[in-house]
Amino acid sequence: MSDFHYQNGLYYAEGVSLAEIAKQYGTPCYVYSRHAIEKQWTMLDSALEPFKHLICYAVKANSNLAVLNLMARLGSGFDIVSAGELHRVIKAGGDSSRVVFSGVGKRPDEIRFALEQGIKCFNIESADELVRINLIAAEMDKVAPASLRVNPDVDAETHPYISTGLKENKFGITFESAREIYQQAASMENIDVIGVDCHIGSQITNLGPFADAFKRLSDLIAELANNDIELKHIDIGGGLGIAYQDETLPSADDYVEVISETLAEHDMELILEPGRSIVGNAGVLLTRVEYLKQTPEHNFAIVDAAMNDLIRPSLYDGWHDIKQIVESSDADAINYDVVGPVCETGDFLGKNRLLRLQQGDLLAVCSAGAYGFSMASNYNSRPRVAEVMVDKEQVFEIRKRESIEDLMNGESLLP
Ligand code: LLP
Repeated sequence: MSDFHYQNGLYYAEGVSLAEIAKQYGTPCYVYSRHAIEKQWTMLDSALEPFKHLICYAVKANSNLAVLNLMARLGSGFDIVSAGELHRVIKAGGDSSRVVFSGVGKRPDEIRFALEQGIKCFNIESADELVRINLIAAEMDKVAPASLRVNPDVDAETHPYISTGLKENKFGITFESAREIYQQAASMENIDVIGVDCHIGSQITNLGPFADAFKRLSDLIAELANNDIELKHIDIGGGLGIAYQDETLPSADDYVEVISETLAEHDMELILEPGRSIVGNAGVLLTRVEYLKQTPEHNFAIVDAAMNDLIRPSLYDGWHDIKQIVESSDADAINYDVVGPVCETGDFLGKNRLLRLQQGDLLAVCSAGAYGFSMASNYNSRPRVAEVMVDKEQVFEIRKRESIEDLMNGESLLP
């Protein structure tokens, strides 16, 4: 049975009905399934068994401490993009020596903190960053483990905002300049060049772009080896998509098959940075219908969650399934635009959804475990929502709903 499912006409997360969760914790509320998260991580880890490998979960997808702690217990590494994420990993019991640090704009204080904590590798994204890390490491009398993030110039065939591997994107070092920057890095005293890295985009639903990118990496590794630069690991980033609707997705085994075909000859440690594929389908956003409003053009279901809680529909045209918590209802089936209370026309969670609704009904916005809460804001002065984790028949509140006090915390009036 799937971790989210209908049982006796009610929608459940594992052994707990979402109606029960709404009663106890209120709405809106993110609900995650522990089992779903662990299952995805373990499935990928098992598929990777033939390789020496490390899964570095991409913290940005869902950075709740309880989620990070589950990863730490599984023995996961972490992919971070800020000092804040490294603080979270440490607090959640993660091991710094299994952390890779990505991102185009690492500040000096962030580099210093990461060096102090002894992270596994900096994924360097520009020549300037290389120079800065070398200098800071020298000041600290340390040697920084480093990998260059190369931009393989492949089209990930995903939404332009989440495509990162094209040469017009801000990410990584171009293929053309990679060799020269590797030479430069190899000559620096406080840099230890240990790997190569790429990440071509997110929500990638077919394997072709991965195969193209990995082949390019493979050629680069061979060429570097000919020039006496021997690398220890290949970091292939994240990006594997999930089914939001009825898309057919490659399995973890299919993905690993592509890795085998393109990279196995190198016999190096393999690092992956998956985010969405681990947590995306392990969470829903639970929300309540406040009003039903009909205009000559549209039927609106106005719910208590909004774009500030889940921005994917507004920002990327992301499609999330919307399920009724009570499966059947006496109400007529009508096509609704499910919208939030935020004062923006772009504030919607789903359009044209056939639902049987009455005021007060509960809905689950599905596949909201990745880039849901982690992208939430306080826009319209809306406190960020609660998060709960279901573990079989138990529910744990893993983040309290923000209070009005939290909302204004740190602000002050002029004297
Ligand atoms: N590694 C790096 C360097 C990344 O930039 C990302 C995501 C990942 C790994 C994880 O990728 P994943 O396996 O989750 O696809 N907010 C957007 C997605 C942005 C992805 C940013 N980078 C969305 O909601 O679709």
